[in-house]
Amino acid sequence: MGTSPGSYRAAMLLGAAGLGAAAVLFGASPALAAPTEVSGGSLDWGFKSSFRAYVSTGNGTPPIATSGGATRNADGTFDFPATGGTYDVAAGTASVSYGGTVVFSYPAHMFEITVANPTVVVDGDGTGSLLADVDLVANGGTTEQHLDQAEIATLVTTAPTVTGGDVSFNGLAATLTADGASAFAGFYTAGTALDPVTASASAVAGPAEPEEPTEPTDPETPGPETPGPETPGSGSATQKITAAVTGGALTLTSAGETVALSAATPGQTATGNLNAVTVSDLRGTNAGWDLVGQVTDFTSAAGGSVPAENLGWTPTATVAGSSLKAADGVRNAVAAGGPVAPGSGLGTSRTLCSAETGSSLGSSTCGAALNLGIPESSAAGEYSAVLTLTLA
Ligand code: HEM
Repeated sequence: MGTSPGSYRAAMLLGAAGLGAAAVLFGASPALAAPTEVSGGSLDWGFKSSFRAYVSTGNGTPPIATSGGATRNADGTFDFPATGGTYDVAAGTASVSYGGTVVFSYPAHMFEITVANPTVVVDGDGTGSLLADVDLVANGGTTEQHLDQAEIATLVTTAPTVTGGDVSFNGLAATLTADGASAFAGFYTAGTALDPVTASASAVAGPAEPEEPTEPTDPETPGPETPGPETPGSGSATQKITAAVTGGALTLTSAGETVALSAATPGQTATGNLNAVTVSDLRGTNAGWDLVGQVTDFTSAAGGSVPAENLGWTPTATVAGSSLKAADGVRNAVAAGGPVAPGSGLGTSRTLCSAETGSSLGSSTCGAALNLGIPESSAAGEYSAVLTLTLA
């Protein structure tokens, strides 16, 4: 249990049929309120596996070469080391540069394409970009195209996994842009899916960002030993107190990682409860959030399967109490997602709970009653599945 950065999963057993609870933590360390300078990390990207396969069958010597720090992974993708940039866990943004060069050469098809120095930009709104230097030299030099840090792919970004202040983005979907397509002489068009992007960045070791100054020179701030103005007959003095509130993170924690549903026979419904999850929106932006869930098919070791759609849930949501008094007009409201029935349930992404823009400050606890409809055609056995909860 506990706070888990990134996508968070768990297994669930039903009579030993299992369902996994998964949670995503977005932004972890409250200390990381300001942009963090990048000192390490790497980009794991294969550009496009079918292109690697195409070029690899060619007569390049070698067909694919890496240099300048880039290396080839065992699975044929590339590793580019981070060279700089910043990321901001609280804002969910990043711009990280990676170094290294990959050259695809295919003399028999008369082209050489160089992809170098990729940069990953995460905008914080679920989108991002992959920039790179890309050069095409074809047909003996009569076709040339040179791009310098051009946006060659758009990214669909998800919350980063945060571990001790380091961030990683895993498997971000990448789509070729028109700029990127231009470097492939029309053999790929804009909109072509590229290999997913996995990028990490770690912080420069050193002291945390300095705290905001608290107006030390304010002449109206008498220090403890500074006597106030002489006011004969009066014993009053004033002290002005300042506090800097910096934005924190949007986080998700789960009270457990496994759920065992009740035993059921074919035709019956196995029931149980999702482990309570707590969403804390300490970003201070009141930007709203959604927590959605989706489950895999339930499978058994004997090869049996209960489709994911058969898991239904009835979500619950409450604002987590605090003894502190909120300012007038500040509203912290959370709404439970609508119930979905077995048969048309969690095979697709469903909302567990959400808070709208303007009312998402603070912490909320969400849960759900779970009902797994077991088709009459099901074989006996122990089934399990993984439920993934994603906070964004
Ligand atoms: C500017 C020069 C060229 C570029 C940039 C280029 C690029 C490409 C790309 C991007 C693909 C698609 C790979 C994939 O994802 O499946 C491709 C496929 C292919 N290209 Fe080229 N190509 C060039 C020239 C040529 C030439 C001159 C020939 C023939 C002599 C050729 C023959 C082929 C063939 C047969 C395929 C299909 C390969 C397969 O599906 O396995 N290409 N090329």
